Amino acid sequence: MSSTARRYFEDLYASMPDPWGFETRWYEQRKYALTVAALPEAHYGSAFEPGCSIGVLSALLASRCDQLLATDIVPSALRRASDRVRSPHVRFEERAIPEQWPDELFDLVVLSEIAYYFDAGVLGQLVSLVAGSTLPGGTVVAVHWRGETDYPLSGDAAHEILDSSPLLDRVAHHTETDFVLDLWERAR
Ligand SMILES: C[S@@+](CC[C@H](N)C(=O)[O-])C[C@H]1O[C@@H](n2cnc3c(N)ncnc32)[C@H](O)[C@@H]1O
Repeated sequence: MSSTARRYFEDLYASMPDPWGFETRWYEQRKYALTVAALPEAHYGSAFEPGCSIGVLSALLASRCDQLLATDIVPSALRRASDRVRSPHVRFEERAIPEQWPDELFDLVVLSEIAYYFDAGVLGQLVSLVAGSTLPGGTVVAVHWRGETDYPLSGDAAHEILDSSPLLDRVAHHTETDFVLDLWERAR
């Protein structure tokens, strides 16, 4: 299996609208707060958040950028995200990555709890897409759960693959028992 199947996520959202408790769990709220606090720029021109789910992090990102593209593969999650964040500066689109990676340039790319759903080969492709669509000097941030999962990669392994890109210079690294948060600057 190279990417976690769309069906897995569709079934999760069909059984509960917020499967990970993004709206309610203090763990998630604190992790989101740390993620946006770690961003080195006060404001970004154009940001991309693949795998945006129901848009809880998207709402925080929307206030830090002029334009936000947030994507997911599950339409019901995207509907909740659009209901939450109503702004002409935010686009929610149904897109599968890596196949439907947008042909745009961003100065911020946010990979929050998404990279470990791919195997090392596909994540390697994704890292090239991330680096290729981030403007020189732009920011890439990744944050992932470090505990046991049945996903193709662990959070730590996913971050090691991201960090192996010669186009991404790591500028911050934060680990806790439960999650890892890394920031990279796109090489100039
Ligand atoms: C654990 S949630 C992360 C949500 C959000 N990034 C956050 O941190 O709040 C993972 C999301 O990625 C989406 N996803 C999984 N595989 C995907 C793919 N290949 N392309 C786009 N989205 C995908 C799932 O539908 C799910 O909504």
